[in-house]
This record gives sequence, structure tokens and C-alpha cells, in this order.
Amino acid sequence: MNPPNIADALAQDLTEKLFPAKYQLLPNLNDVYELALAFYESQILNDKELIENGAYFARVGDAFTRHFLMCTGSPLKLPVHSSSRLKSFFEKNIFRTGYATHGLFPYRGKFHPQMIKGLINIMGLKPGDTVLDPMMGSGTTLVEASLMGICSIGIDASPFCRFMAQTKLDTLNMSLTRAIKALNNYEEVFKYFKKKVGNPNVGVRSTSKKASRGVMSIMEPAAEYATAQDRSRLTKEQRETSDTYNFLLLAYLDSAGYSERSQRKSLLEQFKAILERYLFVAEKIQKVLEGSESDLAPGKALEGDARDLPIEDSTVDGIIFSPPYSFAIDYLKNDAFHLNFLGIEMDCLRDTMIGLRGGNLSEKFEVYQEDMEKVLAECSRVLRPGTICTIIVGTNNNQLGKILGMPSEDVPGLHEILIEMGLKHDFKLLKKISRPITGISNTMRREYIVMLQRQ
Ligand SMILES: C[S@@+](CC[C@H](N)C(=O)[O-])C[C@H]1O[C@@H](n2cnc3c(N)ncnc32)[C@H](O)[C@@H]1O
Repeated sequence: MNPPNIADALAQDLTEKLFPAKYQLLPNLNDVYELALAFYESQILNDKELIENGAYFARVGDAFTRHFLMCTGSPLKLPVHSSSRLKSFFEKNIFRTGYATHGLFPYRGKFHPQMIKGLINIMGLKPGDTVLDPMMGSGTTLVEASLMGICSIGIDASPFCRFMAQTKLDTLNMSLTRAIKALNNYEEVFKYFKKKVGNPNVGVRSTSKKASRGVMSIMEPAAEYATAQDRSRLTKEQRETSDTYNFLLLAYLDSAGYSERSQRKSLLEQFKAILERYLFVAEKIQKVLEGSESDLAPGKALEGDARDLPIEDSTVDGIIFSPPYSFAIDYLKNDAFHLNFLGIEMDCLRDTMIGLRGGNLSEKFEVYQEDMEKVLAECSRVLRPGTICTIIVGTNNNQLGKILGMPSEDVPGLHEILIEMGLKHDFKLLKKISRPITGISNTMRREYIVMLQRQ
């Protein structure tokens, strides 16, 4: 055997092997799964599509991509005292998470929006198609789809998620005139919400019995979001009022959540800082979108149950979702504070929340599996044949091992359980990609992207 020619081997460039020379990847593209998604994008999209909707490229020939332009510039208005660690975190994630309105409200377990953009492309979705997220959480899929000209429907059992998702979506193109005025009068606005919504009860996370219907009036403007048709019936001025109201309310609830967790700043200071950040984010994305607002596609955020979707058979062109990670995150406990503010009956909501139903852990796991099978059956029903359902799910083998009484290395990951279920409901496995999760590696070491194709 000839000795390897080290110089020849090292003279090669990996990206040149994978991509045409005119494609320049984004900076900070460090993970193998990102390189894989970039590769599939380059295989599936043409140059024009890559420039308009690609997720992983900075340039195609002389043209910068829209994603690159959308993300560049200062990532976020961080407080001056922020640590260099925090600053570098935001800089590193500028292309992954730090753009558009994704940064409004910190929701646990939300997607990396850039990855969703890449997946929407790889699933073959094109402007004008409709994508569904039956467990939308903070609405990442909806915001991303809208930016790409793809229509979307989002469903979540939590009314707070519906409110948050629709507000993030509307912020892409709402008029900011009144919100800017509100920032100039932040003390007055703060007083208004404090009176209307209340003060956070520091350290108290769940007071489920105390939810009062009285504060439900706070949701009235948000309730106008019922359907896109209802929205289109609003006059321009009504829409502006409603959008501004919801934007300010989200900022107030966000600041209330912060001051509940940390007492470093008063609620008023926190509100001002968060409102400034929200406006910075909104102004930045609206500037980028100037002139192309009509390319934004409509999205509908609905309250509902993923086990019984309010959608007709074979009408959706793609599905992306991330189920609750079995029982790793209690979304109701996490959001108890905001849900209480909004007057939501949490005991009723608990009965619909997948992952929280059932008594002890093994019963919870049984019910979780039954529920997820219903979700997959519904996904199969609403998808057009040949289209793709992508599930993003983390594994928690240590926890599952304890429940099933097995060593954690023998436990089937949640992704495998979901694939098995999918096969029973007219899906075939198209692709499985795994990515490491850093930071919380003790409980959830890897996340899987599972692509199932409807037969
Ligand atoms: C992992 S989170 C989704 C996060 C989302 N991908 C994002 O980017 O923000 C799972 C969501 O499932 C929702 N959920 C739980 N049970 C549900 C049900 N029966 N129907 C619809 N949504 C449900 C929870 O409220 C939670 O927001």
C-alpha cells in the first residue's frame, strides 16, 4: 500500500468538497448537524431560493442572503452591566436565535429558529404552502414561516402561548408609533398594567385556585385574534391599538416574570429595560423588511388540542413540532405566573397538557405515549400524501430508565418510540439527524430531528 500523501490530503478544503465555490457559509457554523442541513439546503434549493430563504449561507456569488442581512448588526440591546459571557453568547447565536422577533419572551424549550428555517427548506416547502405546528409554544415556526412567505397554522393548549405567538408574529409588521410613545411614557403605561394586571407575587409560582375571571378582561384585545378573518375585519386604527396593547402586555408579563426570578431590579426598571429591548428588536427587523412587507405570509395562532386538530383532512403541506419532553418541563408551573395573570383556570388546562396527565411517573409515561399516538394520527390525517412531518425531540434516557426499570443505555429514546408510532399511522422514516444539546447534558444529552413522510 502506498503511504498516504499527507500534503495532498491537507491541501483539500472540506467546504469546497461539499459546496460550489460561489456559496459562502455563515460564520459561527460549528456543529456537524448544521453542516449537514446546509448541505441538504444546497442540494434542494436553487441560487435564488438560497438567497431569499436559505438558513446557513452568507453569500451566493455576489449576493448576500436575506438571512445574513436579517441577522447582522448589533444582536440585542443588552444592559451595559451585562457580563462578557452573556455578550459572547448573544454574538455566537446571532444567526441561530438572535434575529426577527424570536427574542421576545424567553419560553422554555423553544426551537432554534435558524434550524426551523433550514428544515422548512429541506422539507420542500415553498412560498404559498402551509405549514402546521400543532404544539407551537412561543410560535417559532409561525414567525419563521411568515418571514419565508409560507403560510402557517399554530396550535397550543395554552392560551398564553397563543397570545405570545400571535404577538410575535404581528410585531413583524405592526405600526410602532404608539409603542414608541408608550416607551416615552413608560411610568404611566407601567401604572396602567400594574393596576389592570397586578403585581408579581415574588417567589409564588403556582396559585392555581386563585385565578380570577375578573382579570380576563386583559385578554379581550388578544381574544380578537380568533381567526385571520376576524383580524381583517378590524379597521386600521383598531388593529394598531390592539397590536400595541398586546406588545406592551407581553413586555409587562416578561418583566414581571424576570422580577419574580430576580430581585436585582425593580419591576418598573425591568419593564422599561424590556420594553426598550422589544422596540429595538421590532425596529431592527422592520427596517430589514422595509419594502418587502408584502412577502410576509399570514400565520394563525390558535388555542386547541393537538390530539384533535381543527383542520380538514389532507390540507397541510408540512408539519414541524417539538412535543413536550415527556415530563421534563412542567409548562404550567413555568407559566403559572402569567397564566394566573391572564385569569386562566389551570386545573382545566392541566387535563389537556400532554406530559402532565396521569398520577405517578410511570402512569404519566403511559398516558404520554397514548396522547402522542393520537397527535401522530392527527398529523397523518391533516397532511397531504407525500409531504413531511418533522419532529424535534430530546432524549431523557436516565429518567426513562428509572421509570421502565432498565439501565439507561437499554432504554429506547423518545424519538424511537415516536418513529414506531408514526409507522403505525401511514408514515415512513425519511431521515434521522441527531444534535448534541449543550448546557443541560445531565438530563438531555441529544436532540433528534426525525423526518417522517406521509405515504
Ligand atoms: C416543547 S414546547 C414547544 C416549543 C415550541 N417549539 C417553540 O419554539 O416555542 C411544547 C408545547 O406543547 C404544548 N402542549 C402540551 N399539550 C398540548 C396539547 N394537548 N395540544 C397542543 N399543545 C400542547 C405546551 O403548551 C408547550 O407549549
